[in-house]
Amino acid sequence: MRSRTNIALGLAATGSLVAAAPCDIYQNGGTPCVAAHGTTRALYDSYTGPLYQLKRGSDGTTTDISPLSAGGVANAAAQDSFCKGTTCLISIIYDQSGRANHLYQAQKGAFSGPDVNGNDNLAGAIGAPVTLNGKKAYGVFISPGTGYRNDEVSGTATGNEPEGMYAVLDGTHYNDACCFDYGNAEISNTDTGNGHMEAVYYGNNTIWGSGSGSGPWLMADLENGLFSGQGTKQNTADPSISNRFFTGMVKGEPNQWALRGSNAASGSLSTYYSGARPTVGGYNPMSLEGAIILGIGGDNSNGAQGTFYEGVMTSGYPSDATEASVQANIVAAKYATTSLNTAPLTVGNKISIKVTTPGYDTRYLAHTGATVNTQVVSSSSATSLKQQASWTVRTGLGNSGCYSFESVDTPGSFIRHYNFQLQLNANDNTKAFKEDATFCSQTGLVTGNTFNSWSYPAKFIRHYNNVGYIASNGGVHDFDSATGFNNDVSFVVGSSFA
Ligand SMILES: *[C@@H]1O[C@H](CO)[C@@H](O)[C@H](O)[C@H]1NC(C)=O
Repeated sequence: MRSRTNIALGLAATGSLVAAAPCDIYQNGGTPCVAAHGTTRALYDSYTGPLYQLKRGSDGTTTDISPLSAGGVANAAAQDSFCKGTTCLISIIYDQSGRANHLYQAQKGAFSGPDVNGNDNLAGAIGAPVTLNGKKAYGVFISPGTGYRNDEVSGTATGNEPEGMYAVLDGTHYNDACCFDYGNAEISNTDTGNGHMEAVYYGNNTIWGSGSGSGPWLMADLENGLFSGQGTKQNTADPSISNRFFTGMVKGEPNQWALRGSNAASGSLSTYYSGARPTVGGYNPMSLEGAIILGIGGDNSNGAQGTFYEGVMTSGYPSDATEASVQANIVAAKYATTSLNTAPLTVGNKISIKVTTPGYDTRYLAHTGATVNTQVVSSSSATSLKQQASWTVRTGLGNSGCYSFESVDTPGSFIRHYNFQLQLNANDNTKAFKEDATFCSQTGLVTGNTFNSWSYPAKFIRHYNNVGYIASNGGVHDFDSATGFNNDVSFVVGSSFA
């Protein structure tokens, strides 16, 4: 604690607050972090401890990923080496504040999660690669059904106490389900009433509130309402966001709250709302409970998606000046995109996708009508079968950094997942279709290439009983079986039959 204070005072004396990390800045401003979560980097200049824990599929062991240096970017190479040849999940997001407010797999609440015990899933570790100042790091890619939580917290705001928070997010990854949140929620995983939450929300849900345009928007989840401003309705000063990296801030104190945001890669914060609490009963005073959630609503509503890179919660209502310094520090961290593929494909190529599982390696990914399956194909097969097993690589319909596979014999139709089974469907141009039809290409777990679903990066194209799925390495479905998983998700890409 002493060294942190010294850092803050030293920087205050020179006035160069931008050099300090976010939690040094909040500390200096008199509103210290009580939770600090970042898989991408340390959020204190002096922090050298673990940022997150990985759990790998091959043997179930875990490892901690730390910054490369004090206050630095995460050691992504350590993740790549630990996860080589297997799958990895982010099992803990550590709290850097010293209060042990770590984020763990969210447990069942009013709503159940998809795992075998009704809890939420953990995030796949490879879904959100980025660079910070040119150094690779991984964010937390939240698919529907994924969530993190801590109900046994220390130091977060309760009752009507003041607090602040920010989250750096992928502004292009969202949906309109409830609720991609980061912040203060119920300790019971259930809805205990208006004013029992105060969290950053990001997405284009319009059930309670909205901003200008068609979204997505930064809003505050105050429980039983996503608020873009004072009322529960539209606040046209809350803009639609199109930034790839976005800083969203929410803060509250007795009968006052604010919503502020900015491009996280440049520029300064704008205030979308600052004023009184909603007049609907229950929000003034607030009844905060202090649990911390990521990717879900307070009652464990888990239909939303989004990407979280870093965020904190503070004790006390941060000043606008403090928040401006934090935003400057985020910009200086230089978040940037990097390849989503470790084994890129060539867009426009016509390919075949060959099974490698011993005993099945005369089979290729093919389709029979709408069913995506594997079939035995060879140079002497009928032209129609050859065409069924031939795919054109297209730019990913849901994310241009990955790929979509268009059927050679049914142009305009693509491989997509639906209830985790692969299907061949015509592109209907919906956001859901495009995302379901987008796959990224990684170095094969055993050989060749392994394809993760863009929208569910913990799930990979797999053949099981000669049918195509997106499967996790162990899970609730028979096709998630860990037995044979690595072989079943390893395919050899070759030139097409037709
Ligand atoms: C959210 O955005 C998507 C993509 O533009 C759109 O299809 C969907 O209807 C929107 N949802 C709402 C509630 O506006």
